Amino acid sequence: MTQVIRSSAELREKVATWKRSGMLVGVVPTMGALHDGHMSLVRAARKQSDRVIVTIFVNPMQFNNSDDLAKYPRDEAHDLALLETEGVDVLFAPGVEEVYPAGFATKVSVSGVSEPLEGAFRPGHFDGVATVVTKLFGMTQAGRAFFGEKDWQQLQVVRRMVADLNIPVRIIGCPTIREEDGLAMSSRNVRLSADERACAPLLHAELQKAAEAIRAGTPAAAALAAAQEALSAAGFGPWDYLEMRSAETLQPLDTPCEPARLLAAVGLGAVRMIDNIAV
Ligand code: PAF
Repeated sequence: MTQVIRSSAELREKVATWKRSGMLVGVVPTMGALHDGHMSLVRAARKQSDRVIVTIFVNPMQFNNSDDLAKYPRDEAHDLALLETEGVDVLFAPGVEEVYPAGFATKVSVSGVSEPLEGAFRPGHFDGVATVVTKLFGMTQAGRAFFGEKDWQQLQVVRRMVADLNIPVRIIGCPTIREEDGLAMSSRNVRLSADERACAPLLHAELQKAAEAIRAGTPAAAALAAAQEALSAAGFGPWDYLEMRSAETLQPLDTPCEPARLLAAVGLGAVRMIDNIAV
């Protein structure tokens, strides 16, 4: 049975009991609307920890668009039922006042890796993520934390922050879970129309084609221009970015001379799609 906890004081007591018995605690931070992508993180946490906490908190600080925050899907009862099936020990679902009580005045800001791509198109987004993730690490006291590679830049921001601040948690990145047709699972996919949903897997297909071409020696700029043209012709747009970057620092790369990643953010209908793959 998954216990639902809303107060950090109660969670701290629970975790202290576990830790006194020498248990390793894993946390999967989420904003709810759980799908198979999240559940793969939960399963990884289950395998690699003695006790598992899943957090659900739709973090207002990381939304720079109030409409996106208002429309973010929420269904705690459904999420809880899924967590029960995976044997999750605790669902930590604090309210906004628990996370940001009156007088809250601190912001965690990671420079460098936070700045390009999502950081440029969603000002303040990663400050919101870094701040809430720091709080969730403090509240859960977990020894391991599981994040999806779907949000590749977020994963690198969290890794940088944990290293810089000596936060005693091991960050585990887990592969993106895709539908059979290649579409990366996302809570936002439910907002695609039937036609848009049919077109959506092309994003991953074109990223793969571009990565293969780059591996075969095609200049990245040419491979990405071809992908952008094909996707735009299929109805994708407007474009935020389609780029090859260093996998760790997110600095621009012309050639895959170090581990590299292709990262894309593009509109499809009313939905902003993001995806990334290794080169
Ligand atoms: O990836 C998410 O769902 C969120 O950015 C996170 C890590 C839970 C922080 O709110």
